[in-house]
Amino acid sequence: MSSAQLSLEEIGKEMCREEWESYTIYSYLASLEKNKENAEKLKRIAEQERKHFEFWRKISRCEPPKVDLKKVKLIAKLLGVQFVLKKMELSEKNAVECYKKIKEMIKDEQLRKELEEILEEEMEHERALMSEVEDPRVKYLGYVALGLADAVVEVTGVHAGFLGATAKHRASGISWSDSGLLRLPLNDRSSLRPS
Ligand SMILES: [Fe+2]
Ligand SMILES: [Fe+2]
Repeated sequence: MSSAQLSLEEIGKEMCREEWESYTIYSYLASLEKNKENAEKLKRIAEQERKHFEFWRKISRCEPPKVDLKKVKLIAKLLGVQFVLKKMELSEKNAVECYKKIKEMIKDEQLRKELEEILEEEMEHERALMSEVEDPRVKYLGYVALGLADAVVEVTGVHAGFLGATAKHRASGISWSDSGLLRLPLNDRSSLRPS
């Protein structure tokens, strides 16, 4: 499906969900963080994700979705918070790509300006998480470990988003499928399918 086939409102519905999930996950991770400085960093990211949600809420009139943190808690417990953060870093990378694409679709100057600000923040998140993930175990195991994590949970590669097959969309980090399985996206966050 091409982006042209989706209205901004439809895109917004998906973005609402994903931004809210990001907000919830970062808030949770901040609560686990023992280091005060790191906790503040995560809280700040969470707050920005909430702001992104509010941006899309204005457009799509969506409500905060229910977020089940069971799987995130499990992964954090089994593999460590750093693993979740590593996943979130990849997710932020996709967020950046996604917002770049959305921005291209928008003609309205004010909206573009607001999207530009969100894009800047997503880029900042990616940079912040890159410096955050310093656990040598994560660095050493890298993608192999992330692959392992994906083996025990569902990966969101199934979504071909509104950006098309070659430019899949993001939105938030870790999210859940309808079946309740955790989706830990590697290359993509989720689709912007019309609901
Ligand atoms: Fe965001
Ligand atoms: Fe973000």
